[in-house]
Amino acid sequence: MNNLLNYEPPNDHFLNRVILITGANRGIGRSLAKALLHYGATVVLHGRDLKALNSVVNESCYDKKNYSLEILDLKSTDKRLYENFTNQILKKYGKLDGVVHNAGILGERKTIENYNADIWNNVLQVNLNSVFMLTKELLPLLHHSSDPSMIFTTSGVGNCGRAKWGAYSVSKFGVEGLAQTLADELKNTTIRVNYIDPGATRTDMRKKAYPDEDPNKLPSPDEILSLYLYLLGPDSTGITGHRMKV
Ligand SMILES: NC(=O)c1ccc[n+]([C@@H]2O[C@H](COP(=O)([O-])OP(=O)(O)OC[C@H]3O[C@@H](n4cnc5c(N)ncnc54)[C@H](OP(=O)(O)O)[C@@H]3O)[C@@H](O)[C@H]2O)c1
Repeated sequence: MNNLLNYEPPNDHFLNRVILITGANRGIGRSLAKALLHYGATVVLHGRDLKALNSVVNESCYDKKNYSLEILDLKSTDKRLYENFTNQILKKYGKLDGVVHNAGILGERKTIENYNADIWNNVLQVNLNSVFMLTKELLPLLHHSSDPSMIFTTSGVGNCGRAKWGAYSVSKFGVEGLAQTLADELKNTTIRVNYIDPGATRTDMRKKAYPDEDPNKLPSPDEILSLYLYLLGPDSTGITGHRMKV
């Protein structure tokens, strides 16, 4: 595992691979999208705001053939929006070789007794229910790939409950259950399913969770990408059902 944390793919490692990253406009998703473009992937950048997504690709003037920007608000429970989102990708590329379920929200840091029910439902929708809805729609596209990989994102509170992590923690427990169930269901196929806890990383979400912490003491999103790159590329073929921690 230690070696994997230093894993670095060769140039053009992701050539001809189409990879979807949810929540690609900032934080870990933004860094991962840029890294994948750098290593030759065709990247589908998901977000809910076109302007924010454009800022990712404009920064480095990537070739328009190598990416597309797709909009979907994960708060939505409308199944048709998930179908339309998937159909856009199907029309453009005909397949997906990788999916990283990265988008997420923190909710509030309160005890269960004081937790706002609307916020609870919203966190469960964005962090868990939308992940199920999207996974269900995207699986046929992964079946069209010769070496498909799906990554879910968990957290340190995704398998160990802790006070005042409320809906966030519960949603990540759900994500781990979803990933384990799917990995088992797909064990006789080529689709590998793994889930990553990225650990403390210098992003807006971390700042919101720990406002008094010095962000400069944390790794930047660019520094924690090795496991993602390993699991998305051909070096991890056959590796499935694993929880990995950066
Ligand atoms: N940072 C850490 O220390 C840490 C530790 C453990 C796990 N994680 C996990 O790692 C993942 C990435 O976290 P991060 O720290 O990079 O968070 P972040 O900087 O807050 O970014 C979150 C991303 O999710 C998107 N998103 C949120 N709500 C959405 C919605 N309704 N529809 C579509 N997109 C939405 C955001 O888009 P908008 O800009 O439109 O809001 C943004 O792109 C999350 O799953 C998080 O739980 C992070």
